Amino acid sequence: MKIAAIAAMTTALLAAPAFAEGDAAEGEKEFKKCKSCHMIVDGDNTIVKGGKTGPNLFGLPGRVAGVGDFRYGNSLAAVGETGLAWDEAEFVAYVADPKAWLKEKLDDSSAKSKMSFKLRDADDAANIWAYLVSVSPES
Ligand code: HEC
Repeated sequence: MKIAAIAAMTTALLAAPAFAEGDAAEGEKEFKKCKSCHMIVDGDNTIVKGGKTGPNLFGLPGRVAGVGDFRYGNSLAAVGETGLAWDEAEFVAYVADPKAWLKEKLDDSSAKSKMSFKLRDADDAANIWAYLVSVSPES
């Protein structure tokens, strides 16, 4: 009985689609594409020394978009006012094309993004998400 239950669980885990599970170690390497503009800093603890063009990405998972110690663009701040918090799906869609994502979220074709960089590869984005989760406080 017990063994059957474990076997069933294992099968369910193996059946999960590969893209749903990012690889944090890969994501750490891929974060080099982001660090010219983004740091990951927890108070005095610098996890990734990075640029200041974009906001600190420490604790991003679950954080409301466009809110924090950064001069966000009006469009991203407006999305934040709707209460949208970052999860994997929104993150992957945002980094693929921030401007298009803002236009869609706000239903406003004149929405503007201060982030011009695009990370088109959804697997890379999922890996970076897993990495950000791994360095963030447990919620
Ligand atoms: C050329 C600089 C630049 C690069 C490279 C860059 N970003 Fe950004 N990023 C920004 C800026 C500027 C903003 C603020 C956008 C706004 O206010 O409209 C931002 C915003 C964000 C946000 C929203 C954060 C929040 O607090 O709501 C996320 C998430 C993000 N970037 C992820 C990434 C990831 C992941 C990468 C690497 C794959 C990356 N960015 C690469 C400049 C950059």
